[in-house]
Amino acid sequence: MRIDRIGRHPQHIPALAAWHHAEWGALYDDWTLDAAASELDDHATRTSLPTTLLLMDGEDLLGSVSLLIEDAPALQDRGSPWLGSLFVLPAARGRGGGRILVDAAVAHAAREGVALLRLFTLWHEDFYASLGWQVEERTSLHGTPVVIMSIVPAERVAHTEPPPHRVDDA
Ligand SMILES: CC(C)(COP(=O)(O)OP(=O)(O)OC[C@H]1O[C@@H](n2cnc3c(N)ncnc32)[C@H](O)[C@@H]1OP(=O)(O)O)[C@@H](O)C(=O)NCCC(=O)NCCS
Repeated sequence: MRIDRIGRHPQHIPALAAWHHAEWGALYDDWTLDAAASELDDHATRTSLPTTLLLMDGEDLLGSVSLLIEDAPALQDRGSPWLGSLFVLPAARGRGGGRILVDAAVAHAAREGVALLRLFTLWHEDFYASLGWQVEERTSLHGTPVVIMSIVPAERVAHTEPPPHRVDDA
């Protein structure tokens, strides 16, 4: 498994948008499949934020994670940027891909000079805590309990052995 930037694999954007929309579409009123694809098309134009990293096995797409300026508008007053849209294909789960994606996104954020990275999660607090994230706040989003967590990317990178997978600059 390796991490790569979405701009190198634009052919995977329609499938990825469909996965994301199936997973989270119900959470956002106006977030259509076209909107999901347009965001990923935009992310493919840069490696600075907002962007998306892919988990690849050869030419097969296994998952993705995004670094976003805004994730949920109702939580935007907590700050920016956000880690979001972490997704591993069901058939590929339980093999460490989720961990690789999160740590790669944190390392990428460190390289981009992000001082503090946040996320919100409904069910995966323990998973992120095991990767060094700390609980910042327990709140609700559209009536659903969520946990806001944060991490200092530079500190995580300094304490991760071996170094996280990184997106090369080539
Ligand atoms: C969450 C998700 C990305 C994890 O992907 P994955 O490839 O299975 O993750 P990993 O194989 O790296 O799992 C890492 C570890 O976390 C554990 N883990 C996974 N989900 C967990 C959870 N909710 N709580 C605690 N631990 C969890 C795994 O058991 C594994 O433990 P181990 O290393 O001791 O075996 C994947 O299940 C997924 O795409 N889910 C649907 C989308 C989603 O919920 N995204 C997160 C939004 S906040």
